Amino acid sequence: MNAEILPTDTRELFEKAVKRAAQLLRDGQLVALPTETVYGLAANAWDAVAVRRIFEVKDRPPANPIIVHVASLDMAQRCVAKWPPLAGKLAAAFWPGPLTLVLPRAQEIPSVVTAGGATVGVRWPSHPFMQAVIRACGFPLAAPSANPANELSPTNAQHVRKTLGQRIPLIIDGGQAQVGIESSVLDLVSSPPRILRPGMIHPASLLAVIGRAGLAVPDTKAGTASILMSPGLLPKHYAPRAKLVLWNWGDEAELERLVLASGIPPLKVHVVAHSHVPSGEIFGRVSVIPHDAVAYARAIYAELHECDELNPELIVVESLPSGEEWQAVADRLTRAAYPIAPK
Ligand code: TXA
Ligand code: MG
Repeated sequence: MNAEILPTDTRELFEKAVKRAAQLLRDGQLVALPTETVYGLAANAWDAVAVRRIFEVKDRPPANPIIVHVASLDMAQRCVAKWPPLAGKLAAAFWPGPLTLVLPRAQEIPSVVTAGGATVGVRWPSHPFMQAVIRACGFPLAAPSANPANELSPTNAQHVRKTLGQRIPLIIDGGQAQVGIESSVLDLVSSPPRILRPGMIHPASLLAVIGRAGLAVPDTKAGTASILMSPGLLPKHYAPRAKLVLWNWGDEAELERLVLASGIPPLKVHVVAHSHVPSGEIFGRVSVIPHDAVAYARAIYAELHECDELNPELIVVESLPSGEEWQAVADRLTRAAYPIAPK
């Protein structure tokens, strides 16, 4: 199989692509679709056979539940057994957008979607194409990120084609993902609500809506793999192929000393910097990534995909500034770096 890639950049192309995607999804097939966070590998959430195929294509561990994507509050409520007032408040504040709410699952959700668990993650994405397909289908879409298990999430159609292009019939090109990292996952079943995966909707924004009930934040080091925790919390995840380290350096000479001490030839080293940008003469490649958390998140996966193509031995990423707005990116990079200790 060689995936067809459909563009969406005019009204006619957009509508044609919606029709084709909806038709395949109705037939129980998988389609890679753009969302504002990362590209998703979608199937009809009511169709257990189609969802099982997602696990096959991604080689996804069966204990990892899949987020269900909706395009209305009605549809969200159909996926869950309980819709507490707090879910309504959070949805009003952040949907459509990069927030997944974990709630008790409805009976009708096939257990393969929830990995046998009693809860389901629900998200109303803001990408116009994703919304249009869900509306055209009339059913919710189960969709994990469209990458083989444990690899980088895709932020454009070419990233999907590279790894899954031979295994699925259709990829929709909806442009570069605007958020760039995966949604914040918030567990509303536990009390107080608990962040299972940090994302670009920050704890302070969530707390402003949650109020006095409070919010539990993850212990990134715990990394247990029970179904009700997010497997996204396993220490290693979202990893590029090369070793990745997070280093701090003052000036270029210091960075050069660190690299030479690693024993890896500098030409096989790629540097990703946001503030202390080396001139790059001795390194294989130097990339500058924006010194702004929102723009950084949008760019980082694409940067790591590019590094992967060039096959370096070491990717040196400049340590991130502190501050809550950097938390989600720091989370992804720390996992990508695990377990290689700096030399
Ligand atoms: O932004 C996103 O969330 C993207 C786009 C496609 O929507 N999707 C995504 O899916 O990142 P995935 O499968 O790659 O990551 C979903 C995360 C996993 O860590 C999974 O364990 C967790 O959400 N999750 C899903 N349902 C859950 C549930 N019922 N309870 C706890 N964690 C859940
Ligand atoms: Mg994923």
